[in-house]
Amino acid sequence: MCGIVGIVGKSARDIVLNGLSKLEYRGYDSAGIYLNDLKGHEYLTKKVGRISNLKAALTPDEQGLVGIGHTRWATHGKPTEANAHPHFDVTKRFYLVHNGVIENFKELRDNYLQNVNLVSDTDTEVIVQLVSLFAREEKLDTLTAFKKVLNLVRGSYAFLLVDNTQPDHIFIAKNKSPMMLGVGDGFNVIASDALSVLDQTQTFVDLQDGDVADITKDSYKIENLETGAVDRPAHKVNLDPDAASKGTYEFYMLKEIDEQPGVIRKLSQTYLDSEGHPNFDPKIVDAMSQADRIYIFAAGTSYHAGLVGKAMIEKMTNIPVEVDLASEAGYHFPMLSKNPFFIFLTQSGETADSRVVLKEVNRRNLPSLTITNVEGSTLSREATYTILLQAGPEIAVASTKAYTAQIAVEAILAKAIGEKLNVEFANEFDLREELALAAEGMQQLVDGKEKLQELAKKYLISSRNAFYIGRGIDYYVALEAALKLKEVSYIQTEGFAAGELKHGTISLIEDGTPVIAIINDPVTNELTRGNVQEVEARGASAIIIAAKEFARESDDIVLPEISYLMSVFLTAIPIQLLAYYASKEKGLDVDKPRNLAKSVTVE
Ligand code: M6R
Repeated sequence: MCGIVGIVGKSARDIVLNGLSKLEYRGYDSAGIYLNDLKGHEYLTKKVGRISNLKAALTPDEQGLVGIGHTRWATHGKPTEANAHPHFDVTKRFYLVHNGVIENFKELRDNYLQNVNLVSDTDTEVIVQLVSLFAREEKLDTLTAFKKVLNLVRGSYAFLLVDNTQPDHIFIAKNKSPMMLGVGDGFNVIASDALSVLDQTQTFVDLQDGDVADITKDSYKIENLETGAVDRPAHKVNLDPDAASKGTYEFYMLKEIDEQPGVIRKLSQTYLDSEGHPNFDPKIVDAMSQADRIYIFAAGTSYHAGLVGKAMIEKMTNIPVEVDLASEAGYHFPMLSKNPFFIFLTQSGETADSRVVLKEVNRRNLPSLTITNVEGSTLSREATYTILLQAGPEIAVASTKAYTAQIAVEAILAKAIGEKLNVEFANEFDLREELALAAEGMQQLVDGKEKLQELAKKYLISSRNAFYIGRGIDYYVALEAALKLKEVSYIQTEGFAAGELKHGTISLIEDGTPVIAIINDPVTNELTRGNVQEVEARGASAIIIAAKEFARESDDIVLPEISYLMSVFLTAIPIQLLAYYASKEKGLDVDKPRNLAKSVTVE
């Protein structure tokens, strides 16, 4: 949540603004920049809204060789200029940007800052005022004052601090919020995501929790609050700067939908050997095979991917699987079996709700696996094992390719455990062939996207609400479909088990209410058809997405042939495209829906 970029030693304005634009998907309700030209001039500019507003507000002479910038997703206080970062102290000597949440900021404010006039409602301002207070009253140098504050703080943070009495330094601190130091020739750059500054350097130092650093254009000194001076080696990152660009697409969401067949092929090539057997680290497979119950924790779309994973893992391994919302499980921990194993599904690897659960799992010394798209992310570092999604950067706030990648990894994992346990279904299921069929079918569906555009225009864009219904795996997909549609189009949408509507919710059906039925389940397809008739009889406009095997002539989208267990890969495409086109046709910002942020690092 929020994005941070800082640089010392180079044309700071452009680098910070470009970097912030690349991080804008992480938070976009306000933005700000502090620049210092090292010749005695400094500039602070903050604007409500997008980075484009900030850019427009800067005059040509506002340049610097040092700069820190921030794009915000509000946690404390409304999106206003006063609450936007960088924050500054009463003497206007210190400037600070922050990602994360300071849990004890009220306590710190009440204990230390009663005589200081705070100008914002944020937790961050308390920190910069405290640094200033300690520097003034105790005559501490900046780094010492900063460390004194860090030792008082409880919470998550990535901080960049500039002191205008020594403006050729940036002071950094990191705890539970991502922060990378990029090393350049004659400059150093800091960002909450390496992707935002890849055009400057490919060499990075991973800062760890508790690290405090002092950087200049030619040097960086890192120490850890607990262990003292540390040596963090720089390494080259293997990231393609173009992977994070939109290319010829109007929106990332469509690009990412279109990329899915390629992602599925890549996962198949990476995690299956030439004979179609999974090749994950045997330690992961051994640990999981010994479990008597697998617990999956996740949020949002990843939670929905977990539900589909449950169906796959149970079918292939006969091990029961429980899927829990991380935000609930963190404080209402599930009752555990004797030999539990924990999976954390998270595209970003930074979701605070999931992290709370993982901490508890670690406290109990239990084995865990994080399945994530981001190498080196917090949940990846803190779990026993990691498997990467290999989906490439996902920039649109609405998750698409990470969802299908998560399900593909779960399928391969299910087969690995099933084979290890010698489960007949897993032994016989030709996953390589099935994933190839899935990728081919997905390609056909993305190629036929115009049909989804028509359906979105005809049924969705003027509708206030909508329903998705399905049974079995189709129900799990209906939940994801509803989340996708509502988050980007603002059409209030519910995903329902098809048989459940008649137990109350059918009273919401009116003339023209769109009800989108997903029909792939061989056992219940007729029953779902019956539920469609029930809603049509009450005026609903039904849209049917059905497997070829059970399709009828009047169905709107007929999915290419594939086994039921794999049907999610195909259904995912039309439900994502319906959401995309509903949003686009309504003229909304598809990639950055209101009130949302890509990675949710607050509980
Ligand atoms: O990074 P994570 O997978 O842990 O994120 C979980 C959710 O915040 C995320 O899936 C969210 O629901 C997306 N906006 C859905 O499109």
